[in-house]
Amino acid sequence: MIDDTASSPHRTERADFQATRDPALMEGADRGQVNLLSYHELYLLWERQQWQTQTIDFTQDREDWWGFPEEERYQRMYGLSSFFIGEQKVAEELGPIMRAAPTEEMKIFLCTQIADEARHVEFFNRFYQEVGVLDAGDLHGRLEETSAHLNPNFTTLFDEMLKSRVDRLAREPEDLEAMVEAITLYHMVIEGMLALTGQHFIITYNEDNGTLPGFVEGFNNVARDEHRHVAFGARFLREMAQRDERYRDAIQRTLVECGPAADGVLAPPWYEEGMELFGVTMDETRAFAMKALERRMKVIGLAPVA
Ligand SMILES: [Fe+2]
Ligand SMILES: [Fe+2]
Repeated sequence: MIDDTASSPHRTERADFQATRDPALMEGADRGQVNLLSYHELYLLWERQQWQTQTIDFTQDREDWWGFPEEERYQRMYGLSSFFIGEQKVAEELGPIMRAAPTEEMKIFLCTQIADEARHVEFFNRFYQEVGVLDAGDLHGRLEETSAHLNPNFTTLFDEMLKSRVDRLAREPEDLEAMVEAITLYHMVIEGMLALTGQHFIITYNEDNGTLPGFVEGFNNVARDEHRHVAFGARFLREMAQRDERYRDAIQRTLVECGPAADGVLAPPWYEEGMELFGVTMDETRAFAMKALERRMKVIGLAPVA
């Protein structure tokens, strides 16, 4: 079904990842040079990049999971829970953003993204179910049980910062400044900085250790979807930044306002200074997130190019 999967060893160099033209994956972004896809091209790419959660085999994952020491299972729950609940929250907040999008092409792409986010929720639901991660026996119960692993910054970012902006858009869908704020937080911060950074290190760690192969297979597909979503955000914000200084200010203001909570989400509640997570330090994790943001901001026109 996927016609442009690849051969290159590193996933971000794979043809299907490069096809999204997310600036974070493109060296040309350092010079501000990326030909972003149009909204319609992004839609067509979505049609070519379908996948199924129901065909992933989690047999080995179940063995691996129950072979991990208890402490490792506990530590892995932070990332798993943040993604599982994060996917559910972004799936359910995207409707008002889609409705407020100023053009038909944007709306159609965002409809595809709602479907993607639903698939991401189901991917985690199925992993939890097949591996037997929790006691709860249904989606609602799993979400509730796994929420015990989150940290307070997660709640601030999703339930306060994202929800308040989406609620505002639901009331006033013609408010483009609110739309710019919502896309900056949703596509640049939550997907671009947090999700893709977590995915990068979690996938690499499992690949290096030869663990959770079904999870890695599905999570790679999730990551490719996220690059396509972020590419949409980059295009939208570039157009808006070119249109009016008010929108440039809105992007920068949102990044500053949400920065501390977003940074807080990178660290689990039990994190202690100097600890490594998935084989990397917090500084390495932050550096990866910031490099991705910087490349995207260069292409949007809000960071100086080299
Ligand atoms: Fe997602
Ligand atoms: Fe997404």
